[in-house]
Amino acid sequence: MAAPSFMFSTLLLLLQLLFALLPHHRTLISAADGNWQLLQKSIGISAMHMQLLRSDRVIMFDRTDFGPSNLSLPNGKCRNDSTDTALQVDCTAHSVEYDVFANKFRALTVQTDVWCSSGAIMPDGNLFQTGGFNDGERRVRVFSPCRTCDWNEIPNGLAVKRWYASNHILPDGRQIIIGGRGQFNYEFIPKNIVANKINLPFLSETNDKGIENNLYPFVFLNIDGNLFIFANNRAILFDYVNNIVVKKYPMIPGGEPRSYPSTGSPVLLPLKNLKDSAIEAEVLVCGGAPKGSYLQSLKGIFMAALDTCARIKITDPNPEWVMETMPLARDMGDMILLPNGNVLLINGAGSGTAGWEQGRDPVLSPVLYRPDNNIRSRFEVQNPTTIPRMYHSTAALLHDGRVLVGGSNPHAFYNFTGVLFPTELSLEAFSPAYLDGKFDNLRPTIIAPKSMSGIRYRKKYTIQVAINSNKVDESSMSVTMFALAFNTHSFSMNQRLLILGNDKVTAVGNSTYNVEATTPRSGNVVPSGFYLLFVVHQGIPSQGIWVKLY
Ligand SMILES: *[C@@H]1O[C@H](CO)[C@@H](O)[C@H](O)[C@H]1NC(C)=O
Ligand SMILES: *[C@@H]1O[C@H](CO)[C@@H](O)[C@H](O)[C@H]1NC(C)=O
Ligand SMILES: *[C@@H]1O[C@H](CO)[C@@H](O)[C@H](O)[C@H]1NC(C)=O
Ligand SMILES: *[C@@H]1O[C@H](CO)[C@@H](O)[C@H](O)[C@H]1NC(C)=O
Repeated sequence: MAAPSFMFSTLLLLLQLLFALLPHHRTLISAADGNWQLLQKSIGISAMHMQLLRSDRVIMFDRTDFGPSNLSLPNGKCRNDSTDTALQVDCTAHSVEYDVFANKFRALTVQTDVWCSSGAIMPDGNLFQTGGFNDGERRVRVFSPCRTCDWNEIPNGLAVKRWYASNHILPDGRQIIIGGRGQFNYEFIPKNIVANKINLPFLSETNDKGIENNLYPFVFLNIDGNLFIFANNRAILFDYVNNIVVKKYPMIPGGEPRSYPSTGSPVLLPLKNLKDSAIEAEVLVCGGAPKGSYLQSLKGIFMAALDTCARIKITDPNPEWVMETMPLARDMGDMILLPNGNVLLINGAGSGTAGWEQGRDPVLSPVLYRPDNNIRSRFEVQNPTTIPRMYHSTAALLHDGRVLVGGSNPHAFYNFTGVLFPTELSLEAFSPAYLDGKFDNLRPTIIAPKSMSGIRYRKKYTIQVAINSNKVDESSMSVTMFALAFNTHSFSMNQRLLILGNDKVTAVGNSTYNVEATTPRSGNVVPSGFYLLFVVHQGIPSQGIWVKLY
């Protein structure tokens, strides 16, 4: 390791002392963390669904039956759709591709209605997006990451219509699509040779008649290969290969509904691929709307959102929910995994529910959740935005650790005036505190490799980083891998963060370190596909590099 120069460190110490005495320094410390940046005043559509691709571009779309958007299709193209309920000949776009590096977007063409649909990235990096409304209800749409690519639609790609379903990528490379309005079953794409749809009674058991409260079920792949499926106020562990409920988890204490339209948000907490210990998996479900809230909000009575989170170790033989209280009540929020293993709660409302005009009291401040802290010191309120992000808002983690935020449209059309919460066409970025310049001396920069196209399971890989600091703590370096998530309606489908076992950190001179990390044992822990890989030092992440695991 390079020895720090005595002169330099003395100077640094003097500067730090001087700084600590300045009055503005204290105000900096007392302020809440994180920064907001308006990236685009308008992308022409309202980002109701969001998916980051391995090309560092983000696919977004709203619905084809909103009427004309604020973005024209290129080259005078129009969509001529006799079944569209708003506008049969529509020469505007309802999908865009946003280029993260250039902060630019281009119009894409969806042919059928993608409203309240779902999706997942296949292991080859192509986005398979499924279902929607009306003429889109049985569509599968494919988007390949390339500069000029557009949507490719497969008619009758689904066995049944799926509206408000949830998707998950499986270790065998297929996708499972679960539920949707009136669908108490699941199916796979590519399609099974024999079966098409397979019944799942859990979805009818959790269906509160007239309200449903079980749409967009929260689905996570458990590390044993089974699926954790949550709807309404409880969950099962499901063996989708043999169609068997392996385990029934208890109801969340209090029994309040957490899924759409009550719309809490779920996250699979970071998985730790540590040596000599079995991996454990925990799920956290935060917020939602209490029983009765949906029907009350239809009458103009807006009940306060839930301020509780429930956390459960899904790998535990006798799992129990542990309740926690958030500093801010919230529904329609999003929970985004950050590269350093913390969770960001962002977007949403303080009262009412999902549905047209049914939410009130925007929650403008994100909240940070530190899963490894003591239960009483996990939450921290962050700096607020000025733009309400209500029903139909979205969020996604980017390669540089920022969180992209868009959407919000609680109306059946694009309504910019005469409404409480105008349709939002803007895009913002939230930069968590780890991006502050004051942490630059702790921030690792990945020198090599620049990307990894073929990493395998159960192998050791070395990442070389530079840290320009004399305060490097080799014991607090870790490598994390983030799975690309499809975000809509407060659920980031497929979102997953793996903390790789870091076996060894070696200083190789000139502020350079080799960080050796071990990949997980199988696709049940993280399915094969594209991941953003970060090196984290004292809680400060590097920028991510793309890796392909298979
Ligand atoms: C979108 O277009 C409408 C109608 O032309 C206009 O009133 C509105 O200001 C536009 N909004 C944005 C954000 O560009
Ligand atoms: C749209 O399609 C219908 C029937 O398919 C056709 O009659 C009509 O001329 C088309 N309109 C435009 C503007 O292309
Ligand atoms: C929303 O926009 C639609 C279509 O332009 C219009 O018919 C409707 O009256 C608007 N709603 C409100 C509340 O302004
Ligand atoms: C040491 O690192 C700095 C910046 O990281 C670089 O400019 C310099 O060329 C490096 N020196 C050597 C000998 O590698």
